[in-house]
Amino acid sequence: MILHESFGINEKGRLTIDGLDAVELADQFGTPSMFISEDKVRKMCRMYKSAFAEYFGGASSPIYAGKALCFKRLYEVMKEEEFLADCVSSGEIETARAAGYPMENIFFHGNNKTDEDLKRAVKYGVGHIVVDGVEELLALEDICAAEGRIQKILLRITPGIDPHTHKKIITGNVDSKFGSAISTGQAEAIVRLALTMKRLDLSGFHCHVGSQIFDIDPFRDAADIMLKFIFDMEKNTGFEAKILNLGGGFGVRYTEDDPKIDYRDNIRRLGEEIDKMCASLGVNKPSIMMEPGRSVVAAAGATLYTAGSVKEIPGFRNYVSIDGGMTDNPRYTLYQSQYTVLNATRTTDRADWECTVGGRCCESGDLIAEGIKIAKPKRGDIIAVLVTGAYNYSMASNYNRVPRPPVVMISKGKPYVAVRRETYDDIISLDE
Ligand SMILES: Cc1ncc(COP(=O)(O)O)c(C=O)c1O
Repeated sequence: MILHESFGINEKGRLTIDGLDAVELADQFGTPSMFISEDKVRKMCRMYKSAFAEYFGGASSPIYAGKALCFKRLYEVMKEEEFLADCVSSGEIETARAAGYPMENIFFHGNNKTDEDLKRAVKYGVGHIVVDGVEELLALEDICAAEGRIQKILLRITPGIDPHTHKKIITGNVDSKFGSAISTGQAEAIVRLALTMKRLDLSGFHCHVGSQIFDIDPFRDAADIMLKFIFDMEKNTGFEAKILNLGGGFGVRYTEDDPKIDYRDNIRRLGEEIDKMCASLGVNKPSIMMEPGRSVVAAAGATLYTAGSVKEIPGFRNYVSIDGGMTDNPRYTLYQSQYTVLNATRTTDRADWECTVGGRCCESGDLIAEGIKIAKPKRGDIIAVLVTGAYNYSMASNYNRVPRPPVVMISKGKPYVAVRRETYDDIISLDE
């Protein structure tokens, strides 16, 4: 096993993904290609569902954050697993709909949903709309009146927690484009306003504190603040929240330097803390929701590339360039996110060639990793980047008119194309 159960090494000294030889997969599907273990995704879904039922109880449930990875087949899997989903755009809702995913299982997020987004969500019967601010609340009330619908909503609240994670992925602080802050009084004001809306049925509150969180502390702090807020709202307005959604953010091990994480045990400990808080505040425990994205899909994924130019600059550094890069994985360029990179063709050779892995875009920042050690590649070797299931394909672009790779899913040892490779015709098809 390398990092996660989906990755291993076979007798030929090659990387395996769900037991399949990575070099053979690259031959069969071409490179770059992204591979997702369907079995691993399903396993994570089942783990989350059973842990929530056991430790949060009642109608508590995890919700898959589709922004991490979103395409039709994945929503079919989520439907089969009876897993709720969080969508952040009409595009994600349309994808879920095309997969036959039940609209009532969707929580619709976003800090700036357009009227068109809201109309579509109401018309399709999206289960909950997570209202981000006052204008959206008023617009949604009007839309529901016009459609003759009652819409269930949550209000997005900013509890003001710094989860000590990377700045660009912190979203729970008060100075945020998301939600209404408790400390400024805006959260209470929007609750009062929501309770006057005839067409909107307030179910509870949502918050999100950040991403790549390995311990329960930021979630416990958020729950503490949010449960006190629930207590205050009950006292001040008589409204009793039925749902407390604590957002996403459980961490994922990308490299050996990241800690191991026991999700189930974190949920158990968080559940105990929440029970204690509810008892000491004297509030009825709401259903607890969380929105894991990264931790459901990241470790199920790997991307395979072919090595092209292998360049040594004496006194400086070594580069290996691959046939993908920031167009299929912009996370190093955006956040200097660390990955485990291997020469999948020679996994058992000594990994002693220090290098920078460069993409193929005309952009010096187009890198996947720097200062890593792999077995020195030859042109044509297969380079693997592990743990790419989250925020890679969903963030992919056509910069430099580079086609997006296919997504190949592996189910019970059988690979199949879930999203085909983009063609050059696809790329120019929008041009008039
Ligand atoms: C509101 C919300 N929910 C859920 C998530 C998913 O977080 P993660 O993929 O880290 O679990 C995010 C990510 O930014 C988010 O903003």
